[in-house]
Amino acid sequence: MKRIYLSSPTMHGEEQDYIKEAFDTNWVAPLGPNVNALEKEMGEYMGEGIHACALSAGTAALHLSMKVLDIKPGDIVFCQSLTFSATVNPAVYEGAKIVFIDSERETWNMDPAALKKAYEKYPDPKAVLMVHLYGTPAKIDEILKICNEHGTPVIEDSAESLSSTYKGKQTGTFGRTGIVSFNGNKIITSSGGGMMLSHRKEDTDYATFLATQARDKARHYQHSHIGYNYRMSNIVAGIARGQLLHLEEHKALKKAIYKRYTRAFGDIPEISMNPMNPDGDANNWLSCILLDGASKVTPDMIMDALEEKCNAESRPIWKPLHLQPVFAGCDFIKAGDEDVSSDIFARGLCLPSDIKNTEEDMELIIRTIRDLFA
Ligand SMILES: Cc1ncc(COP(=O)(O)O)c(C=O)c1O
Repeated sequence: MKRIYLSSPTMHGEEQDYIKEAFDTNWVAPLGPNVNALEKEMGEYMGEGIHACALSAGTAALHLSMKVLDIKPGDIVFCQSLTFSATVNPAVYEGAKIVFIDSERETWNMDPAALKKAYEKYPDPKAVLMVHLYGTPAKIDEILKICNEHGTPVIEDSAESLSSTYKGKQTGTFGRTGIVSFNGNKIITSSGGGMMLSHRKEDTDYATFLATQARDKARHYQHSHIGYNYRMSNIVAGIARGQLLHLEEHKALKKAIYKRYTRAFGDIPEISMNPMNPDGDANNWLSCILLDGASKVTPDMIMDALEEKCNAESRPIWKPLHLQPVFAGCDFIKAGDEDVSSDIFARGLCLPSDIKNTEEDMELIIRTIRDLFA
């Protein structure tokens, strides 16, 4: 029985043309025409005045965002708790003190009410890490309003939301910096890679400088900063360029999967889909379900059934970071008494959202899940 994936790479052929050109011209290095062109093409895709720096990973882009904002040991950084650990790890590399913020139910992202409360306790954070989980834009305006009132720069983790828009603008373009990921499971992939985005050219120039070992302008090797080897390779950039041609097509296919699940479970009161932000247009990177608290069927039961009956991969919701052993010492701020992110973690599940799923695959997945509720 074939394997049905959560979200696997979908290649089209143009990727190999760009790679071939790189080989033919011997640009097999962490620089070259594909890297330059990808930065230009991504900048144009993201919107007017956006500069892009091509890097080895989204995590590297987050790390260099910390450098752009000059995060130092002991600085307070607010971060959405319901996310992948890569969102926050780079702040920890720099010695920041992390304060986790709960999510709201309408987008599963940072709750503006909890953010407000966090400012009461910690009035002077150095940065706020905002995430668009599973591709659904956060309540960006509300979050930015609060951060702007306090003069705190926002880093926008758009690793999962490339091509999602909010009020007509691309996610990743609202913060001081934004980051995207081209990891293997993302909406488009270059096998691995990422980008840092900014309205300020000096930010992406600084990121490029640090990403290439921080060489000062001199004939000899001269360094006045600590550098990193974070630049994207010209081969990888070729894959990303080929994929970028198909981003909107991938988005349409992801949306169709979300719509299909929404329709299929519409008559099962115990199942609701992950929410959409009415001010946004999500890329539906992963379609997720949330089970009613009274449901006898659990996320684990669905995972097991999908594995056994469909050979299909599903995945628990990200375990909130404030529940992770490694972050046990960090504060967690919620809007009220309820811990919303833990509740979503306990009752939610990411369903197979691979755009290569056939109609038969989708029918099998849906039938298998529906049978559990029969
Ligand atoms: C929310 C989020 N942030 C950051 C990352 C890190 O991106 P990368 O894997 O490209 O380093 C990922 C995915 O891997 C992610 O899902």
